Amino acid sequence: MDLLERLEQYRREEQKLAWEGTFGEYFELAVKTPRVAQLSHARVYEMLMAAGAEGPSGGRSYGFFAEELFGVEPALQQLVEYFSSAARRLEVRKRILLLMGPVGGGKSTIVTLLKRGLERWTRAEAGAVYAIAGCPMHEEPLHLIPESLRGEVRAAYGLYVEGELCPVCRSALAERYGGRHEDVRVERVVFAEKSRCGIGTFSPSDPKSQDISELTGSIDLATIGEYGVESDPRAYRFDGELNVANRGLMEFVEMLKCDEKFLYSLLTLSQEQSIKTGRFSMIYADEVIVSHTNETEYAAFVANKRSEALQDRIIVIRVPYNLRVSEEVKIYRKLLSESALKDVHLAPHTLKVASMFAVLSRLEESKKAGVSPLKKMKLYDGEEVDGLSRADARELHEEAAREGMDGISPRYVINRLSNAVVKDDAACVNPIDALRALKDGFEQHTAITREERERLLNLLAEARREYDGIAKREVQKAFVYAYEESAKTLLNNYLDNVEAYCNKTKLRDPITEEEVEPDERLMRAIEEQIGVTETAKKAFREEILIRLSALARRGAAFDYTSHDRLREAIEKKLFADLRDVVKITTSTKTPDAEQLKRINEVVDRLVAEQGYCTGCANELLKYVGTLLSR
Ligand SMILES: Nc1ncnc2c1ncn2[C@@H]1O[C@H](COP(=O)(O)OP(=O)(O)OP(=O)(O)O)[C@@H](O)[C@H]1O
Ligand SMILES: [Mg+2]
Ligand SMILES: [Zn+2]
Ligand SMILES: [Zn+2]
Repeated sequence: MDLLERLEQYRREEQKLAWEGTFGEYFELAVKTPRVAQLSHARVYEMLMAAGAEGPSGGRSYGFFAEELFGVEPALQQLVEYFSSAARRLEVRKRILLLMGPVGGGKSTIVTLLKRGLERWTRAEAGAVYAIAGCPMHEEPLHLIPESLRGEVRAAYGLYVEGELCPVCRSALAERYGGRHEDVRVERVVFAEKSRCGIGTFSPSDPKSQDISELTGSIDLATIGEYGVESDPRAYRFDGELNVANRGLMEFVEMLKCDEKFLYSLLTLSQEQSIKTGRFSMIYADEVIVSHTNETEYAAFVANKRSEALQDRIIVIRVPYNLRVSEEVKIYRKLLSESALKDVHLAPHTLKVASMFAVLSRLEESKKAGVSPLKKMKLYDGEEVDGLSRADARELHEEAAREGMDGISPRYVINRLSNAVVKDDAACVNPIDALRALKDGFEQHTAITREERERLLNLLAEARREYDGIAKREVQKAFVYAYEESAKTLLNNYLDNVEAYCNKTKLRDPITEEEVEPDERLMRAIEEQIGVTETAKKAFREEILIRLSALARRGAAFDYTSHDRLREAIEKKLFADLRDVVKITTSTKTPDAEQLKRINEVVDRLVAEQGYCTGCANELLKYVGTLLSR
């Protein structure tokens, strides 16, 4: 990268965003491109849709959120639908959006995505916003058109104008521009929370000291002496969050924690599209208000009679936790890639096992017979579960009204994983480490009740049992592969013995060159794997020999796949050998050279093909060893 060149380029791009002209010129632009004058909700909606949407209603996914949010499609769909209606200026746009859900369920993330999205969007051509230059609320220049002319403008140009000039612009029009509307300066603005344009945030703090001016601006003590009256706009600072967020979006953090007086400011804004500020008449404002809260606070709010007017003005969107294991894994991947853990090796299945536990903790017990939490979890994740269908999944979810509103949050899981790494200074985290870290976490947590702890411990055990099955299968798979050579050797060895046995000849020991009897023990060890009895062994061996000679006559060799039952026997024999091999690694005895070689082969296979590092591959073998020796 050439920094100087990039800086040059950066300045050129910034320059492109700087447009300035008169209101007359702006009006021409608005006639040509009416979207520049769209209202805030329509702008947000266009931004959302510009990133694309796919899938059927109910499971629609939106490109805008696709990289960042997983498993909360219903909430996102509701959100987009809200903007869709609000964009058409339906009554809903006069309501405040309230995201309601459990801690760490993604509420703030949704709002942040909207805010950052708008910042980017207004820098793009399609999202360009223009404002009266010098207006503290960067207001829509079309406000300059007098009320009495608006009907004609609408009829002639199709431009809808809503809202009145703010006190500052009104006085500027009269004094600075001598009343000539068309001369008023207009400029392009880009939204940025940092420069306090188009994006605002209000967080409740101590209700005693928090002042309404944070929302609606305040008297400018430095200039009030100069202008004498408080109703002179020059003696007022229109710098409250509601002013700043005009034309864009304001986030109202934890809205229901706020003092009522703030809520009433919101009520007028949403109802009348205006802000009551100081000594001024109402000031028009056009902005999206998004807030968030948790279920308990919301319930208290709804129970409070005095809040009825406000309740009526709120649209609640439930944002429950994700309930699909595969989506939960994506959440963790995203969070980990942003954290200090990105350089730590995660053994395969670690995130999946943590996800299983998290999802299990969020599920409600089903009243339906035979539906265990584990089955429900798999069903929700789209797995085949015998006896249950897709329709059952829907029904199960509908029966559990509060599902997803409680349980373990993604944030908790990530914190616990980080903790495990930091505490042990680990280079690698495996599923068992993860489960242990999760457990330590809620054992330390005093806020968790005894029953809840009990429930979580049971779910941990459940996730762990699920993992045990996965671990065993994983090792067996690697084993068969790493032992393909061994399988061949074992097969040839068996065939040589069978041949000698059937022809009543002897074998020559490859090393000592001595003549030896066929190895009955070896043959039986293999045959027993598939239930060939002592009395049936002769027939079985003859059958094999016939197959062998038939192949030989055609010039073909008998291989591992030539006889299905024999192949099965060989594989099972290898698995049985594995037990010993793996057990040995966990025992105090040191493995001999041959065993060591085998272990290394399995480890290599796990590393090369399954994403393990040597550390966690060895851990896996050790773990499966203890499972097998139980
Ligand atoms: N469904 C999800 N998809 C992607 N990331 C998620 C999801 N749910 C939570 N997260 C991640 O978990 C973290 C916590 O989420 P966030 O802060 O948005 O939650 P919140 O609902 O605002 O919580 P709180 O009530 O504690 O304020 C964030 O980093 C967020 O990205
Ligand atoms: Mg939050
Ligand atoms: Zn103004
Ligand atoms: Zn590892």
